[in-house]
Amino acid sequence: MDVIIKESYEEISRYGANILAVEIRNNPDINLGLATGNTWLGVYKELIRIHNEEELDFSKVTTFNLDEYYGIGIDFNKSPKEDQSYARFMHENFFRHVNINQENTHIPDGLVLLENLDDYCEGYENEIKSRGGIDLQILGIGKDGHIGFNEPASSVKSRTRLEILDETTIDTNWEKFYRKAGGKKEDMPYFAITMGIGTILESKRGILMASGEEKAEIIAKALEGPLTAQITASYLPIYHPSLTVLLDEAAASKLERYEHYKHVEELKRKFLK
Ligand code: GLP
Repeated sequence: MDVIIKESYEEISRYGANILAVEIRNNPDINLGLATGNTWLGVYKELIRIHNEEELDFSKVTTFNLDEYYGIGIDFNKSPKEDQSYARFMHENFFRHVNINQENTHIPDGLVLLENLDDYCEGYENEIKSRGGIDLQILGIGKDGHIGFNEPASSVKSRTRLEILDETTIDTNWEKFYRKAGGKKEDMPYFAITMGIGTILESKRGILMASGEEKAEIIAKALEGPLTAQITASYLPIYHPSLTVLLDEAAASKLERYEHYKHVEELKRKFLK
């Protein structure tokens, strides 16, 4: 695990976007695993800039999103604010601004019928496999330590499935997203379809990004242990084969081994790059 700490959110966003841009240029038909949430907005914005100003080409890129609320779907009759689906989030904040082929973008379908759900989730997994697996998976972290929507007590072997959202997640995501759109708390979905921990751990490279003081405590627990199914991001440092963690100073502020990560980063910059 590489832990990279930068002064500000803007810096980690540029750093993250640069990793993605290099990977896409090296492998134009890359399979990307994408995330929603505020954390990655800066990276999406920067990738759009690189696309416009430096000709970063998305035409052969394939994407698989981590998750989607269950019970809602993209609805262009609603304003972007009213439509809280992750599909709309991706459309508004990224896809519509770059030359990605819509057919190569995959987001779990939040409107799939309950009786078809198991087959649907298996199909999502098979689609990832048939395309050769995810080359680079980007991840945020929830307040309760979730990755994707893998809530506390998710198995390390879990696959794409229906997940019941934790109370903390419902409160946080209502405050951060639904409430701003004028939605009532009752409007918040209680379920989501999410890639499993097992699915995420099979990605060839992973980037976990976090910003702000509100993430400092959970980041310290996730990265420095102890490993527990109660904080599903804590599976990453131990089981992910190639993980980069991007943090701003505020999100890194509670790390016990803060000095160590800074030291390693400096040595790498001096001698290995
Ligand atoms: C949601 C998503 C997660 C995301 C998390 C953090 O719950 N399912 O994938 O990491 O929010 O969101 P934010 O980046 O806004 O803090």
